[in-house]
Amino acid sequence: MIEIKNLTKRFGPITAVDDLTFRVQPGEVLGFLGPNGAGKSTTMKMVTGFLTPTSGAISVCGHDVLTDAAGAQACIGYLPEGAPLYPDMNPRSMMRFVGQARGMAADRLAQRIDEVCRLVHLEAVMDQRIETLSKGFKRRVGLALAILHDPDVLVLDEPTDGLDPNQKHEVRELIRAMSAGKVIVLSTHILEEVEAVCTRAMIVAQGRIKFDGTPAELRGRSRYAGAIEVAVASVHATEAQRALGELGSVSHVGEVVEVSEETRFVVFPASEAPLLEDVQRVAAGAEWDLVSLAVDRGHMDDVFRTVTTGESAQGA
Ligand SMILES: Nc1ncnc2c1ncn2[C@@H]1O[C@H](COP(=O)(O)OP(=O)(O)O)[C@@H](O)[C@H]1O
Ligand SMILES: [Mg+2]
Repeated sequence: MIEIKNLTKRFGPITAVDDLTFRVQPGEVLGFLGPNGAGKSTTMKMVTGFLTPTSGAISVCGHDVLTDAAGAQACIGYLPEGAPLYPDMNPRSMMRFVGQARGMAADRLAQRIDEVCRLVHLEAVMDQRIETLSKGFKRRVGLALAILHDPDVLVLDEPTDGLDPNQKHEVRELIRAMSAGKVIVLSTHILEEVEAVCTRAMIVAQGRIKFDGTPAELRGRSRYAGAIEVAVASVHATEAQRALGELGSVSHVGEVVEVSEETRFVVFPASEAPLLEDVQRVAAGAEWDLVSLAVDRGHMDDVFRTVTTGESAQGA
């Protein structure tokens, strides 16, 4: 549905997008992750036909974006960075304006304005000037405009940027609700967002793909994935660390933190084999008691740093 081949964009000496090749299929929600300046927005502008690539090919729903931008744009809904809106218009007039510009028939447009207004919960503000709306409502207006013509492909550039946690949650729910059967590509630098809404995560840095897989696979790359955080009474801390450190399945014990009477430390696995049973067995036969024990699924931000900066992370 979206097919990108050897896509490159240079701005003078800067290579913003460097030979990207990937495809996205219906039903997929692709989270485009990366630090600022990674080339996310530039890629989205090229996919939506607003920026001409230096080289490479893009096809959206069978339309070549370079030779048939209008055909491609007819099946794309695009929420650009910052989602520009006309402050003097209200959501209803803005939707009418955009629908007419897209060549939608009057009755179909009226019907879609109703549907979309309900879908993104704009009922209360449909006739209120856009400049008087909160950021959350403005972002929803942007989304409403992007989905007005019921496109098969949605390209959303940082859809939750600048929203408070409740608003972020709402926009994520919306994206999830719309995702069935569509192709959605969204950019973000919020890792939880990828876990919350995406079926696929792609990390880009310096215009190149550094990771492409499921959010769970991404998390699994963390050096904390499969590690166990153990808490014991501080009087037994040294003994417990020694006993667990001697296990063949343990690579090392680290990150020791003592808080009042309790000491916490992390037991890192030597391989991908689960560590839990070994740790429980040692604890059961020991003189000391566990205060708590938690298996770590891995930290997304840890992987993000490793993947985008090449900073070394043991075991990753
Ligand atoms: N119109 C432009 N002219 C010159 N450089 C640009 C332009 N647009 C983007 N860039 C540069 O391209 C790189 C990628 O930018 P961008 O795609 O906006 O990154 P992201 O969206 O991942 O933060 C950055 O170094 C940015 O400064
Ligand atoms: Mg951007």
